Amino acid sequence: MRSQILLALLPALGTEAIRIIHANDDGWAELYTRSFHDALVAAGHDTVLTAPAENKSGTASSDAEPSPRTTACQYDSCPANTNQPIGRNESSPRLNWVNSFPVTSMRYGIDTIAPPFWNGQAPELAVSGPNVGSNVYVQVHFSGTVGAAVFAAKERKVPAIAFSGLSSGTLAWNTTPAPTRSLVYAQVASKLVDAVVSSGKPYLPEDVFLNINLPKVEGKCTDPHNFKFVLSRINVGLFSAKDVYHCGTDRLPLEASVALSDDCLVSVSVGDANDKTTAPKEKQDIVLDKLRRLFTCLP
Ligand SMILES: *[C@@H]1O[C@H](CO)[C@@H](O)[C@H](O)[C@H]1NC(C)=O
Ligand SMILES: *[C@@H]1O[C@H](CO)[C@@H](O)[C@H](O)[C@H]1NC(C)=O
Repeated sequence: MRSQILLALLPALGTEAIRIIHANDDGWAELYTRSFHDALVAAGHDTVLTAPAENKSGTASSDAEPSPRTTACQYDSCPANTNQPIGRNESSPRLNWVNSFPVTSMRYGIDTIAPPFWNGQAPELAVSGPNVGSNVYVQVHFSGTVGAAVFAAKERKVPAIAFSGLSSGTLAWNTTPAPTRSLVYAQVASKLVDAVVSSGKPYLPEDVFLNINLPKVEGKCTDPHNFKFVLSRINVGLFSAKDVYHCGTDRLPLEASVALSDDCLVSVSVGDANDKTTAPKEKQDIVLDKLRRLFTCLP
């Protein structure tokens, strides 16, 4: 009886808190990333941020050993002449910079920087972004945001999600007050993370990443409650094998058309970490089963 009552209470306590490694490509001091970090912490997760010391947008899957940094980090977020390859915010040590690429930041985060915070354990989930600007279709191949997530999924077998927001304009971490778009992206991204976590382990099929594009924050899409999620695909599927049967068809909509609609629709593509294209139907199937309650059909 008592255990039944406890079980009934569990949903009210929210999602299980997990270990999350967080990278990006716009730089460790970019506000979208910091707002998302704050939202993950507020949701109870144990999150460590490891991201480039400066903007490394468009560097795809480049990876190189970090070199000693002599100039200040972006937005003066670290002093000049640290002469260190990696560094952190001493008063918030879960915030770390790596003087190299997005993939390198993810690699150092998983292998070196985060484990001491977690008694040597590995992350349970990897997230990247939200990128400042979209990452759809061809952009996916050049994106460092995607590159970092793909590294985690493929090379470290950590389930990974890449987030991008269509509202652009870069902002320093200490912009006050934080503009709505940064806070809305953080909340919507955090909601998706919680849906994935609630779906239970394994969070995603092996060698898969989720590619998420959040629509522009404007008009009715300034209220996070108005955002809905649509299962999509990354690349044009003209000659591709069938997608999972969903919303009355076996061809999923393109992520670009979902995120560019004016209905506050978030595109959720199941990506293949081997080649950054749409994952095969078998893997889409698993993700759809896990997140079915989250998804809506195109209007
Ligand atoms: C980073 O660089 C890219 C491409 O060079 C640019 O489009 C973007 O606005 C920059 N972002 C930041 C955070 O400076
Ligand atoms: C470092 O952390 C402190 C305390 O949380 C914060 O006030 C400061 O803005 C942070 N600076 C950077 C660059 O992260």
